[in-house]
Amino acid sequence: MLRKMRDSFSNQQYEIPLKVINDYQIYELELEKIFSRSWIFLGFEEEIPNEGDYMVRYIGPDPFIVIRGDDNKIRAFFNSCRHRGSMICTSEYGNARKFTCPYHGWSYDNKGKLIGVPLRDRIYKNLDMEKWGLIEINVEKYENLIFGSESPRIGLSEYLGEAKYYLDIIFKLTGGMRPVNTPFKFTTDFNWKIGAENFSEDRLHTVVTHKTVADFGFASPVSRFGYITPGTNEVSIADLKDTEGKVIGAFGFRFTPGEHIPGYFGFRINSTFNDPRGNLLKKISHTVFTIFPNLSGFIAADSSDGSRKDRAPVSLLRVWQPLGPDKTLIQTWVITPKDTSDEIAKRVYEITISHFGPGGAAEQDDTSIWRGITQVARGYFAKMNTTNLKAEPDLPPLEGWEGPGIVRPTQFHEECQRTFWRRWIMEILGDKK
Ligand code: FES
Ligand SMILES: [Fe+2]
Repeated sequence: MLRKMRDSFSNQQYEIPLKVINDYQIYELELEKIFSRSWIFLGFEEEIPNEGDYMVRYIGPDPFIVIRGDDNKIRAFFNSCRHRGSMICTSEYGNARKFTCPYHGWSYDNKGKLIGVPLRDRIYKNLDMEKWGLIEINVEKYENLIFGSESPRIGLSEYLGEAKYYLDIIFKLTGGMRPVNTPFKFTTDFNWKIGAENFSEDRLHTVVTHKTVADFGFASPVSRFGYITPGTNEVSIADLKDTEGKVIGAFGFRFTPGEHIPGYFGFRINSTFNDPRGNLLKKISHTVFTIFPNLSGFIAADSSDGSRKDRAPVSLLRVWQPLGPDKTLIQTWVITPKDTSDEIAKRVYEITISHFGPGGAAEQDDTSIWRGITQVARGYFAKMNTTNLKAEPDLPPLEGWEGPGIVRPTQFHEECQRTFWRRWIMEILGDKK
């Protein structure tokens, strides 16, 4: 099934067996070959500002305590006692100098070292305390974003590769983004890949799935939720690569058509840019992107929650956390440029949650469909059927565009979603490139 899928991509047929959406063996393969080796977004530095602050975050179903130690260094430890495996930290957030296991009382400091074992002098005379500290995984930062990896092949910067060119526009040239909230969480019955694929600029669904969002005026009149003429005011960017030459992600950007709609993603940003990308930022009103495997973002200027209050951007970063082949935890951080006032940040939060909170209009539109896909992919018949990403762009790549990737002046095609699946096939089948 998987080799056939690879052939289909090599032959530009882009057919995907429906079964890969909902199959336990595939899920196990994903944990081993994708989630254990990728860099996974864990949270923002601002969420744990003080020494001892921690948050529990996940890579696939594996829980990790992400903690700022007494030495101010951020580390991530598998949330499992080295004695007999008990979960040692049961709260999601907190501040701790040490953790004591609730089972037999082993304790660890906030740098992961085993520091206490009850009755050690009598019954554990041979226990090597150095050896039985908490299991630490790799942690690296891109700006103020913390990523973790269980066994990375390359560093985070190399992993993000060409995607950094565009991530920098959002997370650097804006003056940096800060999280407005602790992430809101929503678990529902769909396969994580559908979300990651969808945020790889699925322009084709917005005008159908989210028609009511546009009809009710929740989205900007010039937003990506409406039809526009392909070739005007938008680009899709497919095939961004890491430093090993593997595709890592795709972006969509929409540009403001005129003065009445703000650029800068709809935020007020005072900027004196000494960077050619500053001109892009000035024009951008919307973006959507996925970085393989499960980090996505969406910013849409000039949105509404249907109230009479001011319009503001929907602005978020999210992680599609697989909890099984048919269950995903969505964690969503509302983000704003760092110097945004608390008042505007609150408004951005309200609007974002009305679109993409657990009961948000867009979230419900999407997840009701994604649950259906996951449901039909469950059974025997799905094994005999394929879906497809055959939509071809009808406009050639832009000439004279300075950044990396295949950049086209239209988002009406499925090249960006293919980027996601190409990398998925590579990892699952162990292909080099
Ligand atoms: S499992 Fe933690 S002390 Fe025994
Ligand atoms: Fe959607």
